[in-house]
This record gives sequence, C-alpha cells and structure tokens, in this order.
Amino acid sequence: MTTREITGDPDRILKSFAALVTLTGIYPAGHPLVAEKLREVDEAVQHQLKSADAARIDVIRGVVHLNGIVCEGRGDTYGLPVDSLHFETGVTTAEIATVASFLSRTKLVPGGEPVQQQLSRAGVQHISLGRLVPLDTRWRTRQWPDRPQHALDPDYEESLSLAQQAFDRLSDDRTLDIRAVGDLVRLLMFRVVASNAALAQILTVKQYENLTYIHSVNVAVLSLLIGRQLGLDDETLPVLVEAAVLHDVGKTRIPLELVKKPGALDKRERKMMEAHPVLGAEMLMQVDGLRPATALVALEHHRTVLGSGYPDIGDGVVPHVLSQIVSVADIYEAVTGARSYQAPTPPDRACLLLARLAGTKLNSSLVKAFVNAITFFPVGSLVRTSRGELAIVVRTTPHDPLHPVVQLVDDNVRTALGEVDTSARDADGAYDRHIVETVVPAGGAPDVRRFLPAA
Ligand SMILES: [Fe+2]
Ligand SMILES: [Fe+2]
Repeated sequence: MTTREITGDPDRILKSFAALVTLTGIYPAGHPLVAEKLREVDEAVQHQLKSADAARIDVIRGVVHLNGIVCEGRGDTYGLPVDSLHFETGVTTAEIATVASFLSRTKLVPGGEPVQQQLSRAGVQHISLGRLVPLDTRWRTRQWPDRPQHALDPDYEESLSLAQQAFDRLSDDRTLDIRAVGDLVRLLMFRVVASNAALAQILTVKQYENLTYIHSVNVAVLSLLIGRQLGLDDETLPVLVEAAVLHDVGKTRIPLELVKKPGALDKRERKMMEAHPVLGAEMLMQVDGLRPATALVALEHHRTVLGSGYPDIGDGVVPHVLSQIVSVADIYEAVTGARSYQAPTPPDRACLLLARLAGTKLNSSLVKAFVNAITFFPVGSLVRTSRGELAIVVRTTPHDPLHPVVQLVDDNVRTALGEVDTSARDADGAYDRHIVETVVPAGGAPDVRRFLPAA
C-alpha cells in the first residue's frame, strides 16, 4: 500500500486548485473552463473530506503534508502564492470559487489586513490560507519559548541539563563526554521514567520549541517505554536508551539557524538537514566506549520499516529493531512538540497519526506497543469529559485504556475537585462519563504536577 492510498492525494488538490486560480484570473466568471475546473477541485476536496473532517495541505520544506502527515507529491505549490491550504468539513463550491478569485486578483503582502479576515468578510468560513516565510514576516506562525515555562520534575530537569552540556560540548569542541552519557542513561532509566510528573511533562503536549537536546532526552524516555512494553531485557534497555539519546547528534554539525529555521527549507538546505543521520553515525563510530547499535540507530532512524527513507543505503534494507523503536518515539515526540510552523498535536491525535503510518513507515507491532504503553490520554493530560468537566489524567486503567482515572479540576486548573474513575459504569452497564477531548490551553500548558501521585 502506498502512502497516497492511506492519506489521500493532496497533490491533486493543490494542482487543480492552482489551475483554477489561473483560469479564474484569465476568464470571466461563469466561463465553462472555470466551471469545469471548479467542479474538479470541489470533487477532489469533498472526496478527501469523506475520510477526515479536514483536508489540511501544507507544503513544508518542499514536502507535501496532508493533515500533518508527509505524502507523496512534487512538493511545490504549482505557483500558488500560499504554502498552506486548509479545507474544513462543510466547505462549499462557492467558498472555493471565492478563494480562487481572491488569490487570482489579490497581491498578498505581509503586514496588510490579515488574509483570514478578508476571506471571512467575503463569506469564507471553511477555508484558510497560510504562507511560510522568514521569521519576522510570517503570517500565522507563532514564536514558542525555547524551554518549558513551568517548573520541571527535578530528575527530568537534571537530565535536560546533562544532555544540554553534552550537546553543547559536541557542538563546541566536537567531543562526546561518554561518562556524562552514561550518567544520563542511568538517570533516565532509573529515575525519570519512574516519575509520573516527568512522564507527564514528556508525554503530553509540549508548548515550547523543542531543541535537539530536549528532543533527544524525550525520545530516549519514549523509546524506553516501548522497550519495557516489549519486555526487552536489562542488557538491551540501556543499549536502546543510549542510542535514542544520541540518535540526532549529527544535527550538532548542521548550522543552528538551519536546524531552527522556521520557514520552508530550499532543496540545498533540505539536503544538509537530511545529512544528519550519516554525520551522526560517523561521529559516533569514532567514539570509544559506545555500543555498536548507537551509530547504527543514528544512521537508520529516518528509514522506514519497508526499507525506504533516508539516507539511501539501498532499497529494502530494513532498519534494526532498535532503530525502528526510535523512529516511533521520534515521530511522536516531534509532533507533540511545537514547531514554529506547527502547533503541538495532542497525544490522542498523535497516536492516530502513528497508526496511519504503521505498516508503511513504522513497524505496526511497535506502534501498538507504544500506544498501549502511553494510551491516548497519558498521565498528566488535561482533558474534557462528556459531562463538560475539566480533568487531569492521574492513572491509566490497563484493561480500559480509554477510560482512565482523572482528577476533576476547576477552570483555572488550580484546585482539585475530586478523583473519578471514568471506567465506572451505571446499573445498565453504560459508562458514567467519557473523555471527549484533550484540552490544549492557549496560555501554555498548566503545571499539573501537584495533581499526580508520586511514582
Ligand atoms: Fe533525526
Ligand atoms: Fe529526532
């Protein structure tokens, strides 16, 4: 099965929409060519909306994404002056025609009246446009802080400092402090993973720009959760954690401006970014005292379970199982964190995204193990129940992972209002309440540590 069959065909929508914009600019309204193209776009969009409630197409760094998932496609916008084209369920043919006409005659300038405001004045409610341009002229991207904004679990905080020092030293004088890596691996394995507060801070939405050292620590903990779920033995787990901590070290050889670049990368920049697995593997092979799997995982973590991806080391070369574990953790970590061009994805949606990649990009059994380990609503998640209550997940229920034990809280997430088990049922066997959604507060993630039980 190809990616296109799973996720739809955003390239077709982009291409036909771009043609519609061109035709609208050339021919008078109602011309048969315009009408025909409009019908084609409408059909493609409605077809896409049958399988999801939105068709969000973004061309990021020359790669087409549909609803956050990388898809096949040429990776260009066919001359459209925008890189993001989002359609929501309910979109009408008239709205598509209005947006095409708007794009055919309006010169889009940063700093002018916001595009969405102009569209909404024209009666467009279900389509939004966006463009990724350099930092200070971005339209709808947001600056995220470089670090979490509230106090962290002390062991997690210490692990981040250790990782930051190790990564800084790697960037500065290109040496890896192997003893610090060992300390970090032990800290993660015996303290961080045992702390509910730390897990909450790693598993739930991360409303900060996730720099490589934070990402690496988080990926290591997530990999460890998968490894434990799979029952890997005590010899293998530290190998996995060491490899996961160091999977992205190659990024220390790439200019930081590029790693952090908020806008689209051009072809040359993308090539440089995609060199990080090889650079990392080369660096790690020269360090005495690391396990052999560590360099291998750095090399393979962007390759797919079917043996494609980058770097090109031969079609069909399937990555080592430890690399496959790190790939699952890596994608979950990346999407639940903020990027300047992308708000963080809540855990439940991130799990669905992994499920969609299972079988083609990721190993299905590993995705299953991961989702079972963390559940759709991990400990520490802020959620809303079917009764409209706001709550923090404090314990997951192994036999019923969608119905965890939660602590009800007030609207400000300050006061605990009482613990309830959402797996409880009434006399007829119906659940008293369900979790209906993960809540991502606009003002940044609340500090949920005090609601969580000590490990
Ligand atoms: Fe990577
Ligand atoms: Fe990564």
